[in-house]
Amino acid sequence: QEHPKAVIVIFGATGDLAKRKLFPSIYRLVQNEKIGNDFAVVGVGRRPWTNDEFRSNVSDSIQTAMKESKNLDNFTSHFHYHPFDVTNPSSYLELNTLLNELDGTYQTEGNRIFFLAMAPEFFGTIAQNLKIQGLTDTNGWSRIVIEKPFGHDHPSAQKLNQEIREAFNEDQIYRIDHYLGKEMVQNIEVIRFSNALFEPLWNNRYIANIQVTSSEVLGVEDRGRYYENSGALRDMLQNHMLQMVALLAMEPPIKLTTNEIRSEKVKVLRALRAISEDEVSDYFVRGQYTSGQLDEQQLIGYREENNVADESQTETYVAGKLLIDNFRWAGVPFYIRTGKRMAAKSTKIIVQFKDIPMNLYYKKGEQVAPNLLIINIQPDEGVTLQLNVKKDGDAGDSKPVKFDLSSNFLDGLNTPEAYEKLIYDCLRGDATNFTHWDEVALSWKFVDPISQAWTKGKAGLATYPAGSMGPKEADELLEEDGNEWWPVY
Ligand code: BG6
Repeated sequence: QEHPKAVIVIFGATGDLAKRKLFPSIYRLVQNEKIGNDFAVVGVGRRPWTNDEFRSNVSDSIQTAMKESKNLDNFTSHFHYHPFDVTNPSSYLELNTLLNELDGTYQTEGNRIFFLAMAPEFFGTIAQNLKIQGLTDTNGWSRIVIEKPFGHDHPSAQKLNQEIREAFNEDQIYRIDHYLGKEMVQNIEVIRFSNALFEPLWNNRYIANIQVTSSEVLGVEDRGRYYENSGALRDMLQNHMLQMVALLAMEPPIKLTTNEIRSEKVKVLRALRAISEDEVSDYFVRGQYTSGQLDEQQLIGYREENNVADESQTETYVAGKLLIDNFRWAGVPFYIRTGKRMAAKSTKIIVQFKDIPMNLYYKKGEQVAPNLLIINIQPDEGVTLQLNVKKDGDAGDSKPVKFDLSSNFLDGLNTPEAYEKLIYDCLRGDATNFTHWDEVALSWKFVDPISQAWTKGKAGLATYPAGSMGPKEADELLEEDGNEWWPVY
């Protein structure tokens, strides 16, 4: 197996993402022999750390993530720290000198990944300086990885994109949506396109509705400042939720190549029925958590959290009904919801099939359970099918049974973390599981009228107690169509 070689430069190396996700992922790539010895990691940040301080931070992060204590000296010797001021050109020149030196030491052939894991206001400045100061001009390849948020609406995203594009081509830009690195999100395509049982039914003739839920138990933690300007719509729906919808709804690509898959996803986003500001309340519900209780723990309301305004109008929950105006999906609602401080951490896709034309087991006043295909993304991974079988003893009666196929799905313990897969993809130059600019642009265009309507107060802000499954208004959204949310935990 050929190992990719590169120097990975992490901007924001003293931050939370680097510590929680990036260092452990790089460690696992080495452990799983996806990368060999020809790599180096350069952490840049404002703090005046030494290499030793940086290395001990890296080592702590790995011990915590892997829950084991090993001697990591050999691994951390590949890590170097470089104090940095993003607005100072000479910082870039010094960094370049270091990178050239490490290139020689680790035989990385001039390959460079610039990973921007820091405040987005500097993304444009950094990208441009990397080019102007010559850091992208090597014998190898250069790629830039951008963490979210990619803008806060369409115009700001476009501006940011232009700034980055002045320095990098689209095929050098890797926009992270970490949901695309999740094993079961990647499984959506395989489940759909490799099974004769599902693909023929995957359309408006057989599917009644599709529900995508991503609920979290955590509140805003210490991210109040960021979250106040973001809310659930920008934080989760514009990116992760719409990406999952695109994968569920896209046509089979003609080949499994990056461009073919992307172009099918883009078509779904183009077919999303646009919602105008005045219609928003017919399709979307926003909510904010108030104080509540979960597992006997008292939880404060969102407005009591640190760095949150007393009268904050920021939504910590959003539910919506999407319609996809194309041949396959006309008339099938896609219901999506996501929120913080809900009753369970659960990301699930539930595909509800239509009833058969005449059900012989129908009893007056009772509901016949529909067939459900449940794709469990996290924390459980796998698939569950709900089918109807004979009710014990009673001829003429049926009952729904859930068949759990999860144990057959994954090898178990070692499913790689999203970031591990995404970093490896980037090292190999595979951008399939990253977001193309066209997808970002279309997602913002869909989302912008919703946030504008909310800013203008055109729709109310519902509330829900912390530890619940969201506001009752979100149940009503489905009731209007004669549907209900299926339980997700
Ligand atoms: C991030 C959001 O993109 O996704 C966070 O900014 C959220 O607010 C997180 O908590 C959820 O990710 P996961 O992988 O835990 O579902």
